[in-house]
Order: sequence, then structure tokens, then C-alpha cells
Amino acid sequence: MSRKKIIAGNWKMNIKPSETAALVKGVAEATKDFAGVDIVCCTPAIDIPAAVAAAAGTRVEIGAENAHWEEKGAFTGEISTGMLIDAGAKYVIIGHSERRQYFGETDETVNRRTRAVIASGLTAIVCVGETLEEREAGKLNEVIERQMNVGLKDVTAADCAKLVIAYEPVWAIGTGKTATPDQAQEVHALIRETLAKLVGAETAETVRIQYGGSMKPSNAAELLAKKDIDGGLIGGAALKAEDFAGIIAAAAQA
Ligand code: PGA
Repeated sequence: MSRKKIIAGNWKMNIKPSETAALVKGVAEATKDFAGVDIVCCTPAIDIPAAVAAAAGTRVEIGAENAHWEEKGAFTGEISTGMLIDAGAKYVIIGHSERRQYFGETDETVNRRTRAVIASGLTAIVCVGETLEEREAGKLNEVIERQMNVGLKDVTAADCAKLVIAYEPVWAIGTGKTATPDQAQEVHALIRETLAKLVGAETAETVRIQYGGSMKPSNAAELLAKKDIDGGLIGGAALKAEDFAGIIAAAAQA
């Protein structure tokens, strides 16, 4: 089964609205020949309108970095899926480790957000991954299985058309330490197996699993060559059009 590669940037809290158009246009220009890859820029919510305008008529799609599970109401500081759709976003990152670590995100809230995103018609990019402490304590499988089983509870096989999973070992995010291709492939295979138990093996084969954690042009090709690595979720290297395009070029050739 061949899955279309998907490279998504996660801008985090780094790019201002006034800087957004230049970066999106730079990415679009540098990647216009890579038709075989889905290209996404997930931006701070306040950048989305400028990002959507700059991406119009290009192959770049725009996503958000979080969304609430309720459609509206008294949730100061939150953003609904309806607002994101209205602004032209197509994807939403859910359960990034920084949300889990600093903002109280749990597997249960990941599940509520994921189901709301999928029900809205947006595509959820659901992040899972272990800390160094968990890996060294031999808890890698347990942590990934729990994050998957709770985070994707009640997600159906039909819902999987709107689901991407990102494996992001916490120890590799922003640290310059990348999981080796073999280390990453091992966890990607575990993620697919765990997903197969939830939605069936046939559906699990169709779901794209991204690797994230210090992916850059120089290491993207060897990671993307692995059987179950279907793309990347990119932080630091998504902030420069040239670096991001280098990763997309590697995905186009994988
Ligand atoms: P990084 O971040 O590429 O800067 O390691 C990845 C992420 O957190 O999504």
C-alpha cells in the first residue's frame, strides 16, 4: 500500500502575522514541483488568515496547533474547529508534547479534541511520543499504547480518513538529537499495530504516520525511506523556507 507523504511544519510560537506571508510564499515557491507530497504549514492561530491568503492558489495547506472540543461558549483563550474552518485551515495538531508538558493536556483531552476535529471535517495530526525517562525505564511500548488507546478511543475506521499520527520522541524535539531511522521505524510499526487493533489492519495501513523531532534536510531521506514513516512534523526546520523545502524534496524522492 502506498501512502502519500505528508510534510507539516509546526511553527509553534515563532512567526508573527506580519512575517507569515513571506514564509508561506517562500515554501510554496520552493516546492511547486513536488506534486506527490502533501505540504502543510501549521501556524499560530493569529497567523492563519495571513497564511491562508498567502497559500491561495498554491499546493500549501494551512493548519492550526490546537483546537477545543466544544463548538462555542465560555472558554477564554480557546479556538473552535468552526473558527478554524471559517479562517480556511485544513489540519489541526493535537496533543503535541509541549501541550502535554506545559498546558495540562492529557490523553483524555487529546481524545476529546481529536474527535471534535475529525467530526468537524478537519484533519487531526495526533502526536504521541515518550520522554527520555520513559524510554530508559523500558516503558516505551506502554506509553505509546496508552497514548494511542486513550487518545484515539471511539475513533472509527471511517474517521481515519481524517487522521494523521505523528511520532515525536520528546527527547528529540528541538534538541538536535534525532531518533535513528531504525529506532523511529520500530515505534512507527508499533503505532500501526496498535492502530490496527483499534480500527482494523486494513484501515491502519492507510493512515499516515509522521516522524517529528529534529528532522532536517540532511536526515530526512533516511528516515522517510523507512516502511512506516510517511512524512514529518517539523519544528525548527519549518521556519526557513529553504530548509523546509529541502525536507519536502526528500519526501518527493522517497
Ligand atoms: P523540531 O520540533 O523539529 O524543532 O525538533 C518538532 C516538533 O515539535 O513538532
